[in-house]
Amino acid sequence: MLRSNLLVAISELANPSVIVTSAYAREGKTSMCVNLAESLAAAGPRVVLVDLDLRNPDSHRLLDAHNEVGVTDVLLEHRSLEECLQYVELPAVDTDRPAGMYFLGTGPQVSSPTELLATPRTGRLLGSLAAQADIVLLDTPPVLPVADTLVIGRFVAGAVLVVEARRTPVPAVKRAKDALTRNQTRLLGVVLNKFQAKDVTYGYGDSFGYGYGYGYGYGSRRPGDEARGNGSDGPGT
Ligand SMILES: Nc1ncnc2c1ncn2[C@@H]1O[C@H](COP(=O)(O)OP(=O)(O)OP(=O)(O)O)[C@@H](O)[C@H]1O
Ligand SMILES: [Mg+2]
Repeated sequence: MLRSNLLVAISELANPSVIVTSAYAREGKTSMCVNLAESLAAAGPRVVLVDLDLRNPDSHRLLDAHNEVGVTDVLLEHRSLEECLQYVELPAVDTDRPAGMYFLGTGPQVSSPTELLATPRTGRLLGSLAAQADIVLLDTPPVLPVADTLVIGRFVAGAVLVVEARRTPVPAVKRAKDALTRNQTRLLGVVLNKFQAKDVTYGYGDSFGYGYGYGYGYGSRRPGDEARGNGSDGPGT
C-alpha cells in the first residue's frame, strides 16, 4: 500500500527523490526505507537507495552491501558516482524476472556532516541520480536532533515521516512536520510504524479495526523479514 501511494504521490513530480525520516532516532526509518526500496524495485521501477545518514549509516547492513565508498567520497570529489554505486540483486519473488536496485552508501565518516550536505554538490549528486532512476529513496537522520535532513530537504520532492506507535509524542511529530515544511520540504505522507493490534482501543471505529485485522499477517513471509523488523506476527508497519 505504501509503495502504491508513494508512486501516485510522485507521479506528477519532476523530481523523484524522496526522504524517509522521523522526529527521533530508532523509529524505523532504515527498515522502512530498505523494505520500501526493495518492494518498489521488485515491481519494476528503477530504484536508487541512498544512505544519507552520515552519522549512523545502517542501510548497507540490511542490504548486505558494503559502506566502504559512497556519498562522502562523491561530495568531496574523491571518487566518481559510478565508482561508488553498488548494484544489489533481489530474490525474484513472483516472476522469473531478476530484480535489483542501485545502492549508494554513506562512505567514510566526516567531521561536519551538516555542512557537507548543505553544499550545492548534494543537489548535483541527487540530480544525477534522479536523472537515471524512477525513484530515489533517501535514508536520513531524525529531524529534531540534527539539521542534516532539513538541509537535504531542499533538494528533494518531499518526505515520508515515520512515526513510532506508542512512543513518539504527537507534539514532536508536529514539530518535525513544521520543521520540514518551514524548510520547503513537502510532506508526502506519514507511516505509523510498530503498530500493534492492542493499539486499537475498543470503540476506535469498526472500519479501522477491521482494516487492520484484514491486513494483519496477510501475504507471505519472506526469509529475513524478522531481522528487518517486519515479521508478520510481530508489530507491523
Ligand atoms: N515495523 C517494525 N516492527 C518491529 N520492529 C521494528 C519495525 N521497524 C523497525 N523495527 C526495529 O526498530 C529498531 C530501529 O529500526 P531502524 O534502525 O530501522 O530505525 P531508524 O529510525 O533507522 O534508527 P536510527 O535513527 O538509529 O537510524 C530496529 O531494531 C528495527 O529492527
Ligand atoms: Mg537508520
